[in-house]
Amino acid sequence: MTTETQAFRFSEFGASEVLDFKTRQLPDPAPGEIQIRHLAIGVNYIDIYHRRGTAPLPLPSGIGVEGVGVITALGDGVAGFAVGARVAYVGGPPGAYATHRNLPAARALALPEDLDSREVAALVFKGLTVEYLIHRCFEVKRGDTVLFHAAAGGVGSIACQWLSHIGATVIGTVSSIEKAEIARANGCRHVILYTQEDFQARVGEITDGKGVDVVYDSVGAETFARSLDCLRPRGMLVSFGASSGPVPPLDVSALSAKGSLYVTRPSIAHYTADRAEYEAAARNLFAAIGAGVIKAAGITTYPLSKAGKAHEDLEARRTTGSVVLLP
Ligand SMILES: NC(=O)c1ccc[n+]([C@@H]2O[C@H](COP(=O)([O-])OP(=O)(O)OC[C@H]3O[C@@H](n4cnc5c(N)ncnc54)[C@H](OP(=O)(O)O)[C@@H]3O)[C@@H](O)[C@H]2O)c1
Repeated sequence: MTTETQAFRFSEFGASEVLDFKTRQLPDPAPGEIQIRHLAIGVNYIDIYHRRGTAPLPLPSGIGVEGVGVITALGDGVAGFAVGARVAYVGGPPGAYATHRNLPAARALALPEDLDSREVAALVFKGLTVEYLIHRCFEVKRGDTVLFHAAAGGVGSIACQWLSHIGATVIGTVSSIEKAEIARANGCRHVILYTQEDFQARVGEITDGKGVDVVYDSVGAETFARSLDCLRPRGMLVSFGASSGPVPPLDVSALSAKGSLYVTRPSIAHYTADRAEYEAAARNLFAAIGAGVIKAAGITTYPLSKAGKAHEDLEARRTTGSVVLLP
């Protein structure tokens, strides 16, 4: 048996035109899988790396790493889930840009009833990223000073809300005055327009030359070297993305000269691979959403069929907050 799905796939790397949207036949879920009908799908920068081949996938491939949906069928051996229940997920084989899909049940997360599907789609991948970045990769505590690049973006908006709730002093970088307003509203105490100001010099002024405890850098090529110079001795640089291009090779001996620094290059995959850790992180995230600690303010929605346009806007730095596709 098969079910019809309207889904994007791509068979070569490139610009948004490589994404091919059409009606396809979806087989019944295999053992250990569930089938879902999507209610909302999150768009992430990683989807662009997948499409461009910066993070190459075996082709042809589906695209999209998170969503919220209703279970429509269960494969053999699936326990703990029922047809009709709502679930959210991150990870599994890329393929979220689709009306229906099959998914390993091990990636599905039961969704509390009071949470809105669009809001969760806007928050689950980026929110779980923030959860591990600020609680487990480097544990940010009240009173810490944090530099967060691209503070008005999807991950950045969530991070700044959560960090300011913890009681950290957040310095955010953004590329425009409009984005600066958003970063401030999300809890940044200081905002730096890094396209106009030297962010390293400004961080020096803001911290009286002490430097910050941790830098979260997803911008990569354009910021990495100067991010290192914003740290206090024994501070940590968390390099978690490369929106402006890949980070150049690092001379490890420079870390000593700059103050016994730490550098890590984490991936959400390794922080959510263990089912118990994944569930605990989701509980932490859903509680933060339920309590209003983080909100998906400023969700930009596109019809599923317009996913290519969503990519173009994200790549051109035109978006703020989270981008969600609606089937
Ligand atoms: N390692 C992980 O586990 C993990 C997980 C999730 C996401 N990520 C990474 O986190 C980052 C944020 O993801 P997101 O989906 O929330 O995207 P996003 O932050 O909404 O969009 C990227 C932002 O990066 C900034 N940027 C700076 N230079 C850029 C350039 N040359 N081209 C495009 N953008 C540039 C822009 O903000 P300004 O205009 O303000 O500069 C842009 O809005 C991405 O790099 C993503 O790969 C990593």
